Amino acid sequence: MSNIPLLLKVFLLLLALPAVCAEPKQHSLAQSSATSYREKILLDQGWRFYKYPDGSTPDALIYDLRPELISDEDGKAADAEPTAAVAVKADRQVLKPWILPTANAFIANPSQHHQRPAAKAPGADFAFVQADFDDSHWQKVTIPHDWAIAGPFYQGENAAVGGGMGRLPSPGVGWYRHKFQLDKADSAKSIFLDVDGAMSYAMVWLNGHLVGGWPYGYASWRLDLTPYVKVGAANQLAIRIDNPPASSRWYPGGGLYRNVWLTKTDPVHIAHWGTSVTTSDVSTQQATVNLSVEINNDSQQHAELSLVTALYTLDAEDKPSATAVVRLQPQQFQLEAGKKTTVSGSVLLQNPRLWGPLPKQQPHRYLAVTQLVQHGKVIDQYNTPFGIRSLVFDAKKGLLVNGEPVYLQGVNQHHDLGALGAAFNLRAAQRQLEMLQELGANAIRLAHNPPASELLELTDKMGFVVINEIFDNWQRKKTPLDFHLIFDDWSEADLRAFIRRDRNHPSVIMWSVGNEVGEQYTAEAGAAVAKRLHDIAKQEDPTRPTAASMNYAKPDMPFAAVMDSISLNYQGEGIRNAPEYAHLQGIRTAPLYPAFHKAFPDKLIVSSENAAAVSSRGEYLFPVSQGNSAPVADGAGGDPATLQVSSYELYTAPFGSSADKVLASLQQHPYVAGGFIWSGWDYLGEPTPYYQARSSYFGVIDLAGFKKDRFYLYQAWWRPDLPMAHILPHWNWPERLGLVTPVHVFTSGDEAELFLNGVSLGRKKKQPLDARLRWDQVRYQPGELKVQAYKNGKAWAQASVATTAQATALTLTPDRAKIKADGLDLSFVTVKVVDQQGFTVPTAKQQLSFSIEGPGEIVATDNGDAASLVSFASHQRPAFNGLALVIVKAKPGQSGVIKLRVQSKGLTGSQTLIRSH
Ligand code: GAL
Repeated sequence: MSNIPLLLKVFLLLLALPAVCAEPKQHSLAQSSATSYREKILLDQGWRFYKYPDGSTPDALIYDLRPELISDEDGKAADAEPTAAVAVKADRQVLKPWILPTANAFIANPSQHHQRPAAKAPGADFAFVQADFDDSHWQKVTIPHDWAIAGPFYQGENAAVGGGMGRLPSPGVGWYRHKFQLDKADSAKSIFLDVDGAMSYAMVWLNGHLVGGWPYGYASWRLDLTPYVKVGAANQLAIRIDNPPASSRWYPGGGLYRNVWLTKTDPVHIAHWGTSVTTSDVSTQQATVNLSVEINNDSQQHAELSLVTALYTLDAEDKPSATAVVRLQPQQFQLEAGKKTTVSGSVLLQNPRLWGPLPKQQPHRYLAVTQLVQHGKVIDQYNTPFGIRSLVFDAKKGLLVNGEPVYLQGVNQHHDLGALGAAFNLRAAQRQLEMLQELGANAIRLAHNPPASELLELTDKMGFVVINEIFDNWQRKKTPLDFHLIFDDWSEADLRAFIRRDRNHPSVIMWSVGNEVGEQYTAEAGAAVAKRLHDIAKQEDPTRPTAASMNYAKPDMPFAAVMDSISLNYQGEGIRNAPEYAHLQGIRTAPLYPAFHKAFPDKLIVSSENAAAVSSRGEYLFPVSQGNSAPVADGAGGDPATLQVSSYELYTAPFGSSADKVLASLQQHPYVAGGFIWSGWDYLGEPTPYYQARSSYFGVIDLAGFKKDRFYLYQAWWRPDLPMAHILPHWNWPERLGLVTPVHVFTSGDEAELFLNGVSLGRKKKQPLDARLRWDQVRYQPGELKVQAYKNGKAWAQASVATTAQATALTLTPDRAKIKADGLDLSFVTVKVVDQQGFTVPTAKQQLSFSIEGPGEIVATDNGDAASLVSFASHQRPAFNGLALVIVKAKPGQSGVIKLRVQSKGLTGSQTLIRSH
């Protein structure tokens, strides 16, 4: 083509834009491509892992010195005031000076860039980083890998890891080693290591050279390996990970718990997270798509380049349309050796298919395929999935997506996947979101750290809106060794990297830069830190509002004024302000929505955390609070002997409010854009009120994925058109014969009549703002409770619970009876303990044992009991209130029939077949 004018060449290339292949489900569609210009290779197999045993002294290759740990402060109240950092004296060599330069790409002011020290980097002589070190006795692992999830759980009062961090062995120092081969053909390439997440203080050596690293465990980051690689040879990667004790208020996981990639590009290439797509003037008739692309010239030569981008529609399976819907004007530019530049363009798209949240809108997506062309040859291709949508944040009407109001029916979600721990798994994350959608949730707040980017692909596809949050602390600490230790050095880089990674996700509507941070308490000084983060966020993305959740700052405090939105944790409905909470110490506020609305009449208000209600699925304790919200206490909703919390769904953390109270309060303040429950699912760690346990009680869904009664309370409220009714408690109370046993009903109807053994116990009507109907004087008799719900006077829904007979058998029900044989896909199998009629025995706690045959494996088991310290890896565990869960995967590449069995003494066992293909 050498005689053809350049523009024509570009045009011919445009015609030949390659089809974009659908990606394997577990992996990111963004940035990946199977072209020869850019290779993104998943480094999942072939890793060796070693962790220093408990009590041993690890190597001295530390990132930095840390304050002495005097107490882990396990069980400290979640809303306790964060405290000042403790100074440490430097008395030995640390590796921090060699790691800090990794942040440079995300530090705006070049004068603040870190220089790599001239001195030889530490560690070069250390055995674990040498290519010839024999690691054959190290554990073989597949990445993502969570080094702590299999346990064992630490037990007892003074355990090395208490309930706050989930009693699992996440702290410690571990090493991962991996060899990869580079061909001669790679000699002209730039080679990068892309780590989606390493928990935490990761430092990377290649072929004995310290390359760099990144301390924040939830960050995604890239290292340029190019100066250290050997082509036509094996390359030895060694990654040291050091997870401090007392560094988190929840279970952080440990190790390389997200994907790790090797990326090869031409030295002249589109930068890491180098594309930014925004949409403007959006309507169903037309929309403008604005694209800006950063290009790096890491070569020694000046480059004459052009950039071409075509837009495709993307279907739900990630398949782009065969032909482009529109193309951006090709752009030509020059780029000097060693420099970078940004090229921007826009295009008008007719009749766009808009992205919007379910259920009222559809989450349509597009794919921008951007090619970099040099001398008429494509030298790089970068794929950017995105959505076309408009967002308006209206202080009175709330969130408008594409002009339509979207009331936020949200939940907070932590990063862990229950029994699977922190190791990211796409199917497990999808299952969490599917159940939240069934609940009626349309919004997720990612508490309190960047998620795996695949999670945002799910929220994009499934039509959720997301508050994406980065930090739980700034300079002041909540636990002795948390992020505050590195905040000053890393917060800018972390925040910029976070926004660049996630800015193209249509589901992300807001950047939250902090949760209940200690800087709320420090007047102007705290507000200045907030302002710095706010400004960085706006520089990176002027299209989305900022937030920082406040559980303490009041409208007249400097902190409250800084962000674009008002993000309230618990303060909206009031903290410790109901009579039941009068005796408690701590933050106490009246309901503050009106005061914030008055002080900031132009700012959107979101209830970023509410409720913090607690319960254990299927546990009911008596007597039952007469009020509609009460703090859990021993003997009042909580049982310190069993470590269980009552599922009457009236009990809360000391600063919380029941779902009933929260929903009523939101309804009374219609200018509030909606709220986020603390929390959607139970999560590992933070087992308020019983820190002897391992996982939280806050979820609407338990850790195993079983619905608590609260699920139906929210579903009734959030999905008023779904005919449903739900009765609590269960009706197996032989010890309560003739005793008052309150019966509560959640229904999307407005009225209901309750029957016990066919006898009416009365018909009750919901009062405005009621989330439940209560029959508090029912005296227990075995038999059947039945409810007939009505709506507008017409029969609407029915439900019943009956006293069961004794347990006689077990059943197994897989959520999916066919799974992919890729070693990643999962079947979640529910085990039920049933009576002879097949009814689940709601109190059953029989010991179960599981076995598997065929090309599958049991990955983990659980039963949702927060107090259970049976390892998730165990093939034996008791049922918890009639249920248990077995998580099964297929062996990679092995199709066939997997047979899962469950047995229990005295019960008829069961088996189920799962096909892998
Ligand atoms: C909040 C905090 C959450 C969680 C919750 C329940 O104060 O922001 O992270 O701790 O309380 O304890």
